[in-house]
Amino acid sequence: MAETFFITTAIDYTNGAPHIGHAYEKVLADVLARYHRLTGEEVFFLTGVDQHGQKVQQSAEKQAVAPQTFVDGVTEKFVALWEKLGVQYDRWAATTNPLHKECVRNILQRLMDEGHLYKATRAGHYSVRQEQFLTDKERGEDGQFGPEWGEVVFLEEENYLFRLAEHRDWLLNLLDQRPHLIQPDFRRAELRNAVEKLSGDLTISRPKSRLTWGIEFPFDADFVTYVWFDALVNYISFAPGYNPAPQAQLSEFERWWPALHVIGKDILIPAHGVYWLIMLKALGFPDAAMPTLLVHGWWNIAGAKMSKSLGNSVDPSILADQYGSEALRYYLMSDIATGRDADFNEERLIQRFNADLANSLGNLLNRSLNMAHKYRHGALRATTSTELLTLTRDALSIDRVAPEYRAHFDQHAVHAALERVFALVTACNQFIDTQKPWTVAKHPELADRLDAILYLLAEALRISAILLSPVLPSAARGIFDQLGLQGPLRIEDAHWGVLPDGHTLSRPVPLFPRIEPQEPTTKA
Ligand code: MSP
Repeated sequence: MAETFFITTAIDYTNGAPHIGHAYEKVLADVLARYHRLTGEEVFFLTGVDQHGQKVQQSAEKQAVAPQTFVDGVTEKFVALWEKLGVQYDRWAATTNPLHKECVRNILQRLMDEGHLYKATRAGHYSVRQEQFLTDKERGEDGQFGPEWGEVVFLEEENYLFRLAEHRDWLLNLLDQRPHLIQPDFRRAELRNAVEKLSGDLTISRPKSRLTWGIEFPFDADFVTYVWFDALVNYISFAPGYNPAPQAQLSEFERWWPALHVIGKDILIPAHGVYWLIMLKALGFPDAAMPTLLVHGWWNIAGAKMSKSLGNSVDPSILADQYGSEALRYYLMSDIATGRDADFNEERLIQRFNADLANSLGNLLNRSLNMAHKYRHGALRATTSTELLTLTRDALSIDRVAPEYRAHFDQHAVHAALERVFALVTACNQFIDTQKPWTVAKHPELADRLDAILYLLAEALRISAILLSPVLPSAARGIFDQLGLQGPLRIEDAHWGVLPDGHTLSRPVPLFPRIEPQEPTTKA
């Protein structure tokens, strides 16, 4: 049976419209999912929306609509965006889905039955924006709670708490024993420091008197579930075959789990790195079933955080309309190193498209096919001559490309994998310039050499198309069409010698028309 790969993203909060940061994360996960499909693995890609919580309740109140109506409207924007950007998920995790609510309630009941929850009165400062109680650790050097917490109020109320602190040593040990669970490594170090300071339990209920827009507690109708406790559960409530009953048969679930969770740097500590891992532990997940957290960086605007209040957020839907969804996917995947931050810049998007896709790749495709048609009516000849193989296959180390690309992908370094493919494309363009096929074509005694050159170019384009397909699925298909190829793109074919002797190429069609810079669509 094929190996399985279960990948998730953060579920996007439905308090506002999608921006470029959301798009980056979903495209990154989509690219990883497509890469794993390309390798023949069975893939389950889960993404969705986080629909509960106080901020949603407040936004809905402001607009005088029911919270469900409000989140349905925002959810539609996310769904439409993923469709536009070719984000191909297998299941949609919306936290108002009754199946999810049922799962959260069953989990709460089970944790209560097994002694992981208790009720207590807590008095303290509460951040309305972050929907959480604050401790002195959250105070700045001046002793005040910083602006990131928004409005802070003093509250005294009874709530349900989840026993978090008792798992501190277990978690520290897990991070030491299984360092690869948190990627990149510098994030594991940050998390470890935070866990060392862990004290106190987590308030996981909110009294209905101040928040109704949440999942009601199964054993106490006066409370709803804290939005993070609800949202994190999506990773299992929507997973294939999960059932929270203590003695449930989980063979289908275990075929997929553990997942790779793709998340942004802001939600590692404490949400995923502390709460989620401890929730799984409390639910009886063994250490070997702990998920991997791939923590990506942020896109900023001119070095500053994107934010509603600064009015600098970038609408990915407008960009996709303006430049095409593959241009946007390419930019988002090539201009950031996974794990690091980057600056979003619309001119850069245009530059990268023109340089890499229009000039390098588009040009290679166009000139290779044109020459094949001009000199050989599109028909290829495969050579067995050692001399010609040395001139072509070996000179460009073509069979090293896919393994090196895979090594980058296995580290989630999509930008580096792309660079590897473009190094081949550049090498091919240089090869044409130095070999001058138009001169070779004038010498009938060099006919074999011309055939070998044309075959090399077609093979390089075929291999490039396969390897670019996770990022550029429709362009890759377009290249295949022009090469006269049908059938699935598979990584196992990304090596020399697949095109048969006598294969006929189709006609070239420009795939990447240059973008002529004009007024940027977004202020950057
Ligand atoms: N709803 C929570 C996640 C719950 S997961 C169980 C949430 N939502 S969010 O809408 O605020 O963010 C969704 C994802 O987008 C997060 O992983 C976050 O890090 C990411 N990004 C938000 N802004 C971003 C950038 N500017 N750049 C890159 N990613 C960013 O957190």
